[in-house]
Amino acid sequence: MTHHTLSRNVLNALYNVLGSRSFDNPVYLHEPSFTGSNAWCYLKDCLDTGWVSSSGQWVNRFEQELAAFTGASHVVAVSNGTVALRLALHLVGVKPNDEVLTSPLSFVATANAISHLGAVPHFVDINSSTLSIDPNSLSDRLLEISKYDNGYLINRLTGRRLAAIVPVDVFGHPADLASLSSIADEWGLPLVEDAAEALGSTSGNIHCGLFGSIGILSFNGNKVITTGGGGALLTNDAFLAERARHLSTTAKIPHPWLLDHDSIGWNDRMPNLNAALGVAQMEDIQCKLSAKRLLSHRYQKAFNSVSGVEFLTEHPSCHSNYWLSTIRLTSTETSLVKDQLNDILSLSHASRIFLRPAWKLLHKLPMYTTAPRNDLDVAEDQSLRLINLPSSPQLVDKYE
Ligand SMILES: Cc1ncc(COP(=O)(O)O)c(C=O)c1O
Repeated sequence: MTHHTLSRNVLNALYNVLGSRSFDNPVYLHEPSFTGSNAWCYLKDCLDTGWVSSSGQWVNRFEQELAAFTGASHVVAVSNGTVALRLALHLVGVKPNDEVLTSPLSFVATANAISHLGAVPHFVDINSSTLSIDPNSLSDRLLEISKYDNGYLINRLTGRRLAAIVPVDVFGHPADLASLSSIADEWGLPLVEDAAEALGSTSGNIHCGLFGSIGILSFNGNKVITTGGGGALLTNDAFLAERARHLSTTAKIPHPWLLDHDSIGWNDRMPNLNAALGVAQMEDIQCKLSAKRLLSHRYQKAFNSVSGVEFLTEHPSCHSNYWLSTIRLTSTETSLVKDQLNDILSLSHASRIFLRPAWKLLHKLPMYTTAPRNDLDVAEDQSLRLINLPSSPQLVDKYE
């Protein structure tokens, strides 16, 4: 089969699920929806009361809703997922010149949050079924490069301290979190879960973001729910939550009038306006998640009969939110896969269905080319094969 035939078959499968679209109706990867929600009413309350900034009843309410939904004992809402991750890493003790083990297949924010603390990402290869850090690769890498020195775990090759592990729940599918947390425990490393994409995903009935010391979520406009921009830290540790609250509000010591601060804090708290939007979005999160799941089933069925691609499904022990529905090119010939990917993306974009490839791998970005890493063969291979499909819940008629 030529790659042109494959592209045509992919496009037909997409039309099968999305219906034939005219050029006036482009289909994007993931769009927010506020139709039929209380968003206007809650935003109006912020404007009417003057509570628009970084505290207020909607922030508290949004945190309570998220805690009830995820089962986290504590939730701290902040202004985006990147600062949530930077704050989480700071709280578990990541310091300048430390190394943080993470995945090369992620949005750039994962590595940036590490760099914002002056630390260095250390990339470990992924597993093709979870698309996140491969536990065997992580264990092998730790055995190969680490030594204990004065009670610290050190990378012998660079002399830097290994300070944390950050698995990513890629496209909403949970990483192998049980195995990765036991490796983290074994080596005495804190685990900070980048669950930015995984609101509504669970692994063995535990919500994503709750496997390590702290996890983070993002509510960027393209996520399952959005607050415009926003993020949250999830933790079951009361002390860490308290520190997160304190440091994200300029480390101000509570007092009716004194402006006194006891550390160098950040201005990271989520504004009330954004939280009001979040509360409105949480009111129909179950509907959104069901629609996304239905959409993923439709894609799975449509792509079953397309040879040369497979649809990525959740692992049996996990429940995925299917933030993004994804297909994978299955040919064993790498050069053919590259042509197939380009051809599918060209044809779908010409048809105004905006499919997306996986992110460029992080160690290939100019600022991370010198970051330490092991062989990233699986990541290199998978990144050529993955194609994300339009995944907005509104694409399911029932939801519209
Ligand atoms: C895996 C991952 N980590 C971190 C982030 C950062 O979140 P934000 O865009 O809210 O800063 C995102 C998404 O945007 C993400 O997809």
